[in-house]
Formats: sequence, C-alpha cells, structure tokens
Amino acid sequence: MAVERTLSIIKPDATRRNLTGKINAKFEEAGLRIVAQKRIQLTPAQAGEFYKVHAERPFYGELCEFMASEPVVVQVLEGEGAIAKNREVMGATNPADAAEGTIRAEFAESVGENSVHGSDAPETAAEEIAYFFSGLELVG
Ligand code: CMP
Repeated sequence: MAVERTLSIIKPDATRRNLTGKINAKFEEAGLRIVAQKRIQLTPAQAGEFYKVHAERPFYGELCEFMASEPVVVQVLEGEGAIAKNREVMGATNPADAAEGTIRAEFAESVGENSVHGSDAPETAAEEIAYFFSGLELVG
C-alpha cells in the first residue's frame, strides 16, 4: 500500500476538554505519523471556506460557527493508506454509530461536535493540506 498524507483537525469540543494528547496517541498507536501540526483559531469565514462543499446543508452555519468557537489543532498524518486508516481510527461521523475504541466513540459529544475531521480521498487530502500548510512546514 502507498504511503499517503491526510489532513486531520482536532475540533474545538476536543481542544476545550484537553484531549489533544489522547487523540494524538490514538493516531500514533495506529501507525500514523504526525508530520505537521499547529494550533490555530479559525474565523467563521475561514471555516466556511474549508467546509464549502457543505454550504447547502442545513447544518453549515452551525458547523462554521462551531469550528470558529475555540482553537483547533490542524495536522498532517502520514502512513501507509493514511486516508483510510485515519477514517478507521476516527470512527463514523455520528458517535452513536462509531465502533468501539474509535476516537469518536470515546470522545465525540454529538454528530456536530465530533472531535475530529479527516480527509476523505487523495484529492481532498491534497487540497485540505494545502489550505493549512505550506510545503516548508511539511518535513516528513
Ligand atoms: P467532518 O468529518 O468534519 O465533515 C463535515 C462535518 O459536518 C462533520 O464532520 C460533522 O461535524 C458535521 N455534520 C455532519 N452531519 C451533521 C449534522 N446532521 N448536524 C450537524 N453537523 C453535522
């Protein structure tokens, strides 16, 4: 399997509860390497641009407000099949459906405040990484 990079976000509900280390441990235990990471405060407009694919969804406004409500940790995870592996470690979007042991089963508060985001495909991973990181910040 090819080595991939994927964009991960530790969301405000998780940074607020001081869960960054516990979530990072889940990634590292799964063999994902954190090759870039920074804690930032998004504006609602920056969150809106990132999630523009969801602009027509009824929850879009709430999602953008939530993502800008407190700091997030944006990170690049690297590993074999990293995109799928990260999605496996995160669990289903709705924590009620997330498998035992996954980040969302353990930490997420609701479908909206679900602790983490992860890219869903190679094209979106490349776009999402470039949204937050310059080439100089990716040291591998
Ligand atoms: P994420 O993986 O970041 O991608 C889009 C986000 O929209 C998703 O996680 C959820 O946080 C949010 N989302 C999806 N469905 C709903 C919903 N029904 N209500 C509120 N937020 C949602």
